[in-house]
Parts: sequence; structure tokens; C-alpha cells
Amino acid sequence: MTLSETKGDTTAEYSVVVGVSGGIAAYKACHVVRDFKEQGCDVRVVPTPNALEFVGAATFEALSGNPVDTGVFTRVDEVQHVRVGQEADLVVIAPATADVMARIAAGRADDLLTATVLVATCPVVVAPAMHTEMWNNPATQANVATLRSRGITVLEPAHGRLTGKDSGPGRMLEPAQIADLARTVAETGAFGRGLEGKRVLISAGGTQENIDPVRYIGNRSSGRQGFALGEVAAQRGAKVTIVAGAVDELETPAGAEIVRVRSAREMQDAMLERVGDADVVIMAAAVADYRPEHEADSKLKKGIADDDLSTVRLVENPDILKSIVEKRDAGETDAVIVGFAAETDKPLEYGRAKLERKGADLLMVNSVAGGKVFGEARNQGWILGADGSTVEVEDGSKQVVAVRILDAVEALGGGEVVSLPS
Ligand SMILES: Cc1cc2nc3c(=O)[nH]c(=O)nc-3n(C[C@H](O)[C@H](O)[C@H](O)COP(=O)(O)O)c2cc1C
Repeated sequence: MTLSETKGDTTAEYSVVVGVSGGIAAYKACHVVRDFKEQGCDVRVVPTPNALEFVGAATFEALSGNPVDTGVFTRVDEVQHVRVGQEADLVVIAPATADVMARIAAGRADDLLTATVLVATCPVVVAPAMHTEMWNNPATQANVATLRSRGITVLEPAHGRLTGKDSGPGRMLEPAQIADLARTVAETGAFGRGLEGKRVLISAGGTQENIDPVRYIGNRSSGRQGFALGEVAAQRGAKVTIVAGAVDELETPAGAEIVRVRSAREMQDAMLERVGDADVVIMAAAVADYRPEHEADSKLKKGIADDDLSTVRLVENPDILKSIVEKRDAGETDAVIVGFAAETDKPLEYGRAKLERKGADLLMVNSVAGGKVFGEARNQGWILGADGSTVEVEDGSKQVVAVRILDAVEALGGGEVVSLPS
């Protein structure tokens, strides 16, 4: 059972334990605590004794508004080593050292954090942070596999700059990413690994079509749904590439490659170049249907006859989704292909017609009447299948919607089936 089934569809009122272990990223735990507090959660910080070598208890007490203890022999009358875990709706450990994961894997309970994890029956989310060598070590990887096999969500770390000059996998995800992913786990259940080793290619954001060197035609897409899909796919074990047009400032999903493009034609080139290797292709971008027929070399001037700005002739852009389906039909890819449709009217009728016209395997239809969805953190709609199926996706964060879409992809064979859309 997920938390949303027991507590309604918002994590706002959750009682969250933020566990902190002794790594250099411990200072970032302060932002994780802040994030949950701002959402209205009751937060209890449980550091390991070593974590307090990095950040003082006073900081965690002030930020959380709750007392901070590290051992099982304080406040013994309250039986904390059991009570903290029993009362939690969600446990998030950020950062998680190699050492604390080993102790949890071994079932140890020699400090308040490990005792809490042993007692907790709520979702537990672990955000590792360590040097690449420690992360890649077979001992650590075996511990990660053990934790995952027990239903604990061990997040894939980011790839990037570590302490000092070195760089590689092992860097802790950013605090907002951890908080968002943990909330998604709380609402949908532990992340499976159904996309392990699969290549997922996603387009995201809006395209920009130049009129002249300073003006363009764009749209209001933020790229949030595409990046949320990348985030969840990466956490399910996929190797993710996002071809990103104009997007808001968004964190890179763990280990993902981001290819930046501007126009529809650039996006098409980038997608077609990579589609042959992909197991799953998701066209979440808002691609401009038309572009200016001519792009002026220099800035067009108001009031100059030759530079008539009042009339911009448009020509049709390529249909990227259709060209990907053509590659599949030509046997050049066997990827599961997912399209998106944003409709203001009759979303189911127009969505079904679009799915059939384009020949995709799945189509996520959003109702965008009244300016809904674009740039917002939430989404809703229907997943239409080429087999005639329709699955309603209730209003939720774009990550929760991503979980539903990837469930449908996995059910079609875009990965090992771990769960069906609910
Ligand atoms: C400056 C410094 C930075 C450290 N950073 C990390 C780290 O990022 N990840 C990690 O797994 N261990 C790191 N360690 C090692 C841990 O502190 C050590 O394994 C400790 O036993 C962890 O204890 P805990 O998991 O109970 O908090 C670091 C140690 C020092 C001295």
C-alpha cells in the first residue's frame, strides 16, 4: 500500500524522518529539511554521530523545529529507537554513506538512524553520496542490491564533480530532486528497476523558430514533464538521453545526457540520430508546427518597407513523431514509441485520432484548457494505447504522471514489467 492510499493524495501532512550520515554532502541535508518543512511536513532529523562532525545538531534542530538525537540511549523513557520509526510516514536518508548502507544491509541497529530504519514500515528512500570508487565497489553495489531487494528505494546518484577535482557517479542528487523523488515514492511506491540497462530517449521543452537574430516564435512548454520522465526512468535503471529545446532551469536527471537544441529541425536531427539505439522513445516536447519561411540575417526594422514585420509567412515543420514511427516501420528501431498531445477541447476524441494518425504505441493526452499544465508542477490526463486501451491519469505531480506513463511503457515491453498502471 502506498501512502496516498492511506493519507490522501498529498504528502503535505506527512511525518518525515530525514536521516543524515557522515559524508561531505551533509550540509545539503539542511535544504532537504527545508524543502519538507516548506511543504508543511513534520520533520525529525536523525543524524549519525559522524554526521555531526560535518553539521551541528543546533542547525538541524532550528531548521526542523524538533529535537535531534543520534543514539538509542537518549530519551529512553520515550523508547525512541522504536517510536521514531513507528511514527514516520517517510524516511529519507540524505546523504547516505557507504558505511550506513552497509549497516542497514546487515540489519544493524547500533544508532538511532539504523534502529529507525529497522523499525520503519513506511517507504524508505536513500540518497547515496560518495566517491566513484566507493560507489562502484562490489561491496557497496551488493549492499545497494540488498536494500533494493527489500523494497528500499536507493536513488541513483548524480554524475559530476565530487570533493576535490575528480568527477564521476557518486555525487548526491540535488536536495530538491531528492525531496521530489521521495514524495513520488511516498505516493506511488518504491521505484522498481524495470528499465535496467534500457536506453530511453526523450524530447522535452518547446522549440524556437527564428524570425531574425533577435526574434523567434516559441511556446510555453517548460520541459518539466520530459525531465520528470527522465528522472523516473533513470531511477528505474535506464540510460536516459534528453533532447531539450527551450526549458526552464531544471536539474539533470541522474546520469542523463542532455542534448541542447533550439528549432524543430535541430530536434528532429538529434532524435533521428539516436533513435536506432533506443528501447523507448518519448516525444514530450512541444514542437512548433510552423516556422518562418525565411530567417532574416539581420534584425528586421519597424517601418522599413522591405522589413515588413507585420507579416511573417510560415511553412510547415517536419513531424518528428511521424518520422520516428516511419523508422520503426522501416525496421530501423524496435523502440516503444510514446507521443504527447495537448488539447483544449475534446481531449479523448482528438487524442485517439492523433494516436491513430501518427502510429505511436502510446499517447499521453493532456487537457490544457484554461492554461493548465504548461510550466506547472502538476499534470493529469489519459494514456491511450494503440490496442484501444484508455487509462486515466489522475491529477498529480509531473513525476507521479511520469511513473504512470513508464508503467504503461514497461507493460508494453519497453522493459521488464514491474507493475501495471493503477
Ligand atoms: C572529510 C570526510 C568526508 C567524507 N565523505 C564521505 C562521503 O561523501 N561518503 C561516504 O560514504 N563516506 C565519507 N566519509 C567517510 C565516512 O565519514 C565514514 O565511512 C564514517 O564511518 C561514516 O559514518 P556514518 O555512516 O555512521 O555516518 C568521509 C569522511 C571524511 C573525514
